[in-house]
Amino acid sequence: MAERLADPALVEAAVEIKLGNGESCDTCLAVPLGGRRVAGEITVTGWSQALIVLLALEGKQGFPDLRDGSYSSAIDAPRTIRWGLRTHAEGPRQRARMWGYHDAGVQAYVAEQTRDDPRIPVTPLPALPAAPSVARIYDLLLGRRGDSYMADRAFLRSLAPADAEALSTAAVVNRTHLPAVVSHLTALGIDQFLDLGSGLPAATDFRPSDNPLHAPLHAIVARHRDTARVVYADHDRTLFGFSRAVLSEHPMKPQCVQGDIRYMRRFLTSGRVQHLLDWSRPIAVLVHDVLPWIGTDTIVKRLLAVLREQLPPGSAVSITHAADLGENRMSRFTKAFRAAGIAYKPRDHAFVEALFGGWPLESPGLVPTNRWHPGHPHAALAPHEAGALAGLAFKPEPIAGETKSAVVRPGVASSTQSSAESDHGQALTAARHRQHPS
Ligand SMILES: C[S@@+](CC[C@H](N)C(=O)[O-])C[C@H]1O[C@@H](n2cnc3c(N)ncnc32)[C@H](O)[C@@H]1O
Repeated sequence: MAERLADPALVEAAVEIKLGNGESCDTCLAVPLGGRRVAGEITVTGWSQALIVLLALEGKQGFPDLRDGSYSSAIDAPRTIRWGLRTHAEGPRQRARMWGYHDAGVQAYVAEQTRDDPRIPVTPLPALPAAPSVARIYDLLLGRRGDSYMADRAFLRSLAPADAEALSTAAVVNRTHLPAVVSHLTALGIDQFLDLGSGLPAATDFRPSDNPLHAPLHAIVARHRDTARVVYADHDRTLFGFSRAVLSEHPMKPQCVQGDIRYMRRFLTSGRVQHLLDWSRPIAVLVHDVLPWIGTDTIVKRLLAVLREQLPPGSAVSITHAADLGENRMSRFTKAFRAAGIAYKPRDHAFVEALFGGWPLESPGLVPTNRWHPGHPHAALAPHEAGALAGLAFKPEPIAGETKSAVVRPGVASSTQSSAESDHGQALTAARHRQHPS
């Protein structure tokens, strides 16, 4: 096992499980998640062995989402206990990458799995999750069907066709806003991107000839700066499984972090987020269509305040946020989402503007998303069809001993502005001394 894993140190943290009694009992090794390992499984001979495995691993660190993936099979039939991400991984190559094998390990596993040997169990697909997820619904709205589950499709089918269409238009307008923001930011010298509530990092095998709507952030950034750092973050751990394995093969090595931005301070000061970004230089944070999915206003205000406080001067925050802009109010969807167990709260102009904490907004200010850039492919739509507001602002540099702050957009001459931010916090000061990872 150690020879196969990209991170053999994981074997030390593995749990050895005895399947039976006495000398003749079988043992198996359960390896926790870590490094590139994003999922795991053990196949046993029946329900009683499955129970032993479940009891041995339940609640242990490194074995999230522990489940018996074969609940419908006979009690004495082989069963597979899984942990980690509920992601499609049909081919042995994909599975081996999720198991965290290095290249030679992948080859060995593929050879084993494709050999005509009935003793080697073929891993069935993971069980389908019952609840719809925002990220996968959003993907469906963008026309990407690959990662959706029945529950996500059922949610959209439950809406009136005109409503599903309206949500889809809003999603497309939101997504097609991204290239203009990236182009603006990279032109000003930004080379670090943190995408909060990233959703699926999009078609991980994206090719330039594919639908531009499906371009992942790192592919868009690469058009301008192919050495930039891109970090995807989302609280939905089911998103990153297979993506993480594929992204590791991209030359820019985009990174995925699982984290809940409602706990922004904990998230930003976590070792991984601190390590992946250089906190002594400006960072662009994309907060696109994630805040409406956090239902409590005070939490949204607080998380943005922490983000503004922690970012180095010259950093940028780009927000898109669902809003009622005239007829066809987006808030009419709140009830339907709530019924599906999903919080959804469009907010008004004053609320979203306040999230920038007084940082000066880039032209044209906080406007309907499709009007932020004249080149937006859907600029001709009415604002209510965009159903969201977009704005971008840079963090000013505080001037020591003064209440004024200078605007320091990277690569642009400074001017002087008043700032709502005066205290950067000690975490940032400490973080500034960190080195960018190689
Ligand atoms: C509509 S998608 C937006 C995807 C992407 N930002 C875009 O604009 O194309 C919203 C994403 O926010 C994520 N999300 C919702 N609440 C979150 C939270 N508290 N912390 C982190 N991510 C969250 C969801 O899992 C989902 O992937």
